[in-house]
Amino acid sequence: MGSKSYTSSFAAIYDDIMERVPYYYWYQYLKHILYYYNKRPINIMELACGTGNMMNYFSNKAKKIYGIDKSEDMLAIAQKKFSENKSVRLFNTDMSKKIKYGNFDFIYSIFDSMNYILEFDELIKVFENVYSNLDEEGIFVFDINTEYRLMDIAEGTKKLEGDFYTCYWRDIVDQENEEWIVELNIYLDQNDELENFTETHVETSYPLKKIKEGLLNIGFKQVDYYRSFTFSKGESKNDRVHFVALKQKPEVSRFGQLVTRIKWGFISLFISNF
Ligand SMILES: C[S@@+](CC[C@H](N)C(=O)[O-])C[C@H]1O[C@@H](n2cnc3c(N)ncnc32)[C@H](O)[C@@H]1O
Repeated sequence: MGSKSYTSSFAAIYDDIMERVPYYYWYQYLKHILYYYNKRPINIMELACGTGNMMNYFSNKAKKIYGIDKSEDMLAIAQKKFSENKSVRLFNTDMSKKIKYGNFDFIYSIFDSMNYILEFDELIKVFENVYSNLDEEGIFVFDINTEYRLMDIAEGTKKLEGDFYTCYWRDIVDQENEEWIVELNIYLDQNDELENFTETHVETSYPLKKIKEGLLNIGFKQVDYYRSFTFSKGESKNDRVHFVALKQKPEVSRFGQLVTRIKWGFISLFISNF
């Protein structure tokens, strides 16, 4: 099933709806993954960057940071956040189409974005893009909702409200096609007139071992996956996992990795995941 999603109306309310998402916690986790693999990237690319919430954190230290997204409307919101920041560039592109923007030492994608790739062949094209844009010592990190999670979502409709909108969010689970479908019915306050918009989001997922195999077949030398926000091996029964793929085996010390795990254990206790 195809979908029209992230149109102007949802882009307009996206940051308000995502206010509860702990991007800072997610950022710290990504940073600890980088420490764990002994990486200090300065040339960074985010695939499916949306309104740029995570790029905001990485942009402080990056020499260049590129954001790619299929939705022009999401990028328009991102653009406003980075108008003063010369290291940031945004591109309106589909990440499964062939792209070559240069060499990056860190490419990442967060928050279900890979779940929007509805065919495995297309996901492989995304990975090939990453491979060709990544330095030899580069690292690729992304998260993905597992098949288990998507098929376990409770169906129903909830009402989300903000100062200038009401959004009816309907969750549908298509077990046969293994897709989670979200139908959005958005009422936006436009100069005291309510305007109605609709859009549909579709996510799917793939077996974790198949994803790992796909990455290895492309040429990545090491692929690990973790239960999200931990350094424990991911399992198909987890809700979300983070993948890490490296073009070369990283030079790491076991002691350094142990210290990073312990540090993350403490830090994650003190910064909220809610
Ligand atoms: C859940 S949002 C996540 C946005 C952002 N990463 C964040 O954390 O807020 C998913 C994003 O993926 C983008 N997207 C979906 N399919 C895409 C594709 N094939 N190529 C590029 N972007 C895509 C959407 O436009 C949307 O901005």
